[in-house]
Parts: sequence; structure tokens; C-alpha cells
Amino acid sequence: MKIKYIIKKDIEQALINIGVKNFCEPCIISSKKIEFGHYQVDNLIKISNISHIDPFNLFNKIYYLIKFKDIYKKITFSPPGFINIFIHSKWLSEKLEKIFFSSRLGVKYASYKKTIVIDYSSPNVAKEMHVGHLRSTIIGDVTTRVLEFLGHNVIRANHIGDWGAQFGILIAYIKYKNLQKKLNKNLISLHEIEEFYCKAKKKYESDKNFKKISKQYVVQLQSGDKNCYSIWKKLVSITMNNNYKLYKKLNVTLNKQHTMGESIYNKMLPNIIKDLKKKKLAVEKNGAIIVFLDKFKNRIGEPMGVLIQKKDKSFLYSTTDIACLKYRYEIFHADRIIYYTDVRQHQHLLQAWIIAKKAKYIPSNLLLEHHEFGMMLSKNKRPFKTRDGNTIKLNTLINESINRALKLIKIKKPNLPKKKLIKLSKIIGISAIKYADLSKNRKTNYIFNWDLMLSFEGNTSPYIQYAYTRIISIIKKSNFHVHKIKEKINLTKNSEIKLAIKILEFEEIILIMEKNGTPHIMCRYLYQLAIYFSNFYETCSILFAKKIKICKSRLKLSFITAKTLKKGLNLLGIKILKKM
Ligand code: ARG
Repeated sequence: MKIKYIIKKDIEQALINIGVKNFCEPCIISSKKIEFGHYQVDNLIKISNISHIDPFNLFNKIYYLIKFKDIYKKITFSPPGFINIFIHSKWLSEKLEKIFFSSRLGVKYASYKKTIVIDYSSPNVAKEMHVGHLRSTIIGDVTTRVLEFLGHNVIRANHIGDWGAQFGILIAYIKYKNLQKKLNKNLISLHEIEEFYCKAKKKYESDKNFKKISKQYVVQLQSGDKNCYSIWKKLVSITMNNNYKLYKKLNVTLNKQHTMGESIYNKMLPNIIKDLKKKKLAVEKNGAIIVFLDKFKNRIGEPMGVLIQKKDKSFLYSTTDIACLKYRYEIFHADRIIYYTDVRQHQHLLQAWIIAKKAKYIPSNLLLEHHEFGMMLSKNKRPFKTRDGNTIKLNTLINESINRALKLIKIKKPNLPKKKLIKLSKIIGISAIKYADLSKNRKTNYIFNWDLMLSFEGNTSPYIQYAYTRIISIIKKSNFHVHKIKEKINLTKNSEIKLAIKILEFEEIILIMEKNGTPHIMCRYLYQLAIYFSNFYETCSILFAKKIKICKSRLKLSFITAKTLKKGLNLLGIKILKKM
């Protein structure tokens, strides 16, 4: 349901009928206090200035044109210029009845189905995922779920860093230490590979011969040498098998078929360079190939150069991203591409987009969006790191959360059987980390806080999960089959009406997320929904209502609330619990 949209359209139509020209969009907001209705038109004064009709007069004219509609119970005016709108409870109950059986909760499919590529998670090979990858992985995953729910054709693209000079160094080290057999037998862990890389890198810096060999291996790998290729392949598979396990643990929908690493585009790169030179977009300078873009200036105000091929003929991260855009357009016919990386990659992406557009690899109307995000910080507002200053592995962080959840649950429920305890702490621990992250505006940095995220109060996953289980247990206690209740929902108390309106706002929240990729909007919504349910529960008896009819109506309302919480959490990739 898009109540705000319905009101807005009604007001707009009224303004047209009144003869007001060039009016600005009516701004509809949820009212802060019930005496101002459920919704308010917030900018009547502005429209009144445009129309040269004073606010009260304008209100009156609008009022007579829309008052008969069955959505409105009462429409009033507040000086100096606000329209207060009260929604009719009958209208609300009819809408609720409609969504009672629907698994989509009344959310319509997008009228124009788009093909949308979502570039997310994208860790680098030969390294364990660290806390920095959490945001890209889970925020990106929420957007894929929401867009799919709306019926779009979503292509998940895990743009892993699986190509580049680092593989020459690793191959050289593996050969030098005779590790290939062990590697082939899967006896080397990702953790060890990461350590090898650190050692290899040191050797690369200090040992000229090793450096030379490493460089040769890069060339051999690029030209398809079988042995180098098989070592590389193994490194990628060890890394990704680790990551797939982590995705599963995190309830993230990425799997093997979504992995589209940098290496895929490698074959395209020589032609891209040739073509960009031919189109006079790229020029040679001291042996390197550069694209100069007027839009970006360097420190002395000259057009900034984007390096796309080094003197040693190797290609860069930018070159790959230019090719990747071409590929996503030609192969997938993408209408929209969304990138989930942190804010530091913004300029890099903009440059790749401009070059791809200038070269006509992609049309100028292809929607390209960088849904950037800030960093996760520790209590002292510094980047979140281990005591010795290293990055924290994502798996370590998740395990710690599970352990903390386990300790908390043990205190609350000392008699819980071990198997249940472990299952519960996994779900609660992992949800807590995910929710804590998703509930922050992605654009800003945030401070990581164990105590807050595992709390059963406030905007946290335990609170929302608990609200859900509580409703389920109320329904269970009633001994009614809610689905079989024939009586209609009847909303009488204020807290019931408020809850009903909140439930019906679900679609508006989904549509904001479709546009902006902002999971925190959904978190805030679910939190409010849970609070509104609490208020309803406190003010309205459900199981002990005076009449059985009222009890049934309230059970139905509770059921739709639970359904909405469940769908919302599901879109956030957060598991629900039937009991807590
Ligand atoms: N692998 C990169 C990193 O870890 C992120 C890739 C983002 N996607 C892209 N198309 N550049 O920083």
C-alpha cells in the first residue's frame, strides 16, 4: 500500500481541478501527534504562495474535492497552513483483509522489470575475508533480495580480485618452497596461503632474482601456461570455498555461480587498449597508456590521467572495470548496475564509467550507481583492528558474536539442551552482527558495540526477533486457526489503527530500498512496527477481549504484524525463530 502516494495524487488532482498551475509536489508526512491526523500535508503554505490563494481557502477547496473518498475519515486544517488527514478505519481493515492471505503483503511487482547487476562482496583471492567485507557483502545482499522480491531480473556479481601481479609472487613462492603437491591435495589452508603471501612479498622486495621470476610467472599465467594456471586455479578455489562457507554461515545468497572475478575480463583488455587508442581517448606517454579526463583535475589543475596500461604492458584495476562494464552491458543487457564498495573507490568507479560511456561501450542512459558505505570503527573511533593493529578476520568476528550470544542465552535459559543452545546462539549471534550493521545508515562510519547489538532492547535483532516469537506464541495460545477465522478485522482503538497504518507502510519502505539500497530504513521500520505492536498489546486485550469477535479481529491483526516482521527480516537476510 502506498498511502502517502494516494494522498499525494488526490491532492494533486484537486489542485489541477481548482486550476492551480505549476504547483510543487505536495509533501505528505506521517503526523507526529494524533490530533494532527495520521498524515499531514506539510507544504500547503508553499503551494498557497504559488497559487495566490490563502492557505485556509486553498484547504477548503481541496477539502470539498476529496472529502467523499472512502480512504478519509476526517480532514482538518491547522494554522498557519497544514492539512491533517485521518484515515478511515474501515478502509484500513479492507486493505488488511486483502493482504491477510498474500505472501507479498500487498507489495506489487515493479511495473517495469529491469535487469540489474549488483556488484557486491568482491573479496580478494589468497586472503581471508576481513571485517571490511562485511558491509559490502550483507548490504549488497539485502538489495538483491529486495529487487528480486519486486520481480526484477537480478544478477549477482561477485567481482573477486583474482588477477594481477600478486599471483606471480605466490606462484614463485609455491614453486620455490615445493608446495605444489601439498596444494593439490588440499592440504594448505587459506590462512597459510595468506601467510605465504606475506613472506613471498618480503622476499620479492629483497631478492632481485625472486622478483624477476615472479614477473615471469605473471606473464606465463597470462599467456595460459598450464602449470601456472593450475596453481592459480587452486588458489582461487581454496579462497572461494572458504568464502562460500562464510556466505552460508552469514545467510548470504552468494554462491559459486555468482563469482565473476577480474580474470574473466582479462582476455578483453588488449582490445580495449587498442580501441581506446583508435578512438583517440587513450594516449601513450612514456610507454604507458593513459586516458585524460577533463572532469578530473590533478593537483596543478590539469586534466587527470587514468592509467590503463603500465610501461611493462600490464593492465590495471581500472582497465578491468572498463571491460567489465562493456561485458555487463553486452552479455547481460544490464539496465542498472549497482556497486557496493566503500567510499574510497568512488573516484575509481566514476572514471571507469566515464571512459566506458565515452567509448560507447555502454549507453549514456545505463544507470550506474555506487552505493558506497563508511567504515566500521572501534570504541575509540579508530578503524576496527586487532590489538596488534591487524585487520580482524570476518570469521573471527562472527565466532565471537556466536560465543557472546551463547553466554547470554546460558544465563537466561540455563536448562536449555546443548543442541538447542548452539543452534540458538548461532542464529542470534550472527543476526546481531548483521542487524547492527544494516541498521546504520550505510553512508556513515559507525562504532561497533557488542553490548548494544546483543541487547534485547532498542533497535536490535534480538528485540525484533523476540517481538516476532511473542506474537507467534500469543496466536498459539489462542487455539484458533487464524487462517480459518471468517470474521473481518475491525479496528476501534487508536493503537490498533496506528498499527494497521504501520503495517500498510511496508510497500513504501520496499520502494525506498529499491531506489536507494538502504537497509537501515527497513530496520527502523521493523523496530517501529514492533513498538506499535507492543503498544497495541498493552492497550488492547487480545486473548481476554470482551467479545470473541474482537479477539478474532485482534488475532488477525497480530498475525499480519508477524507476517510483516517475518518478511522484513527475511529481506534483511535475518533468520527468524519460532521460540526464544
Ligand atoms: N576487490 C575489490 C576490493 O576488495 C572490490 C571490487 C569492487 N567491484 C568492482 N567492480 N571494482 O577492494
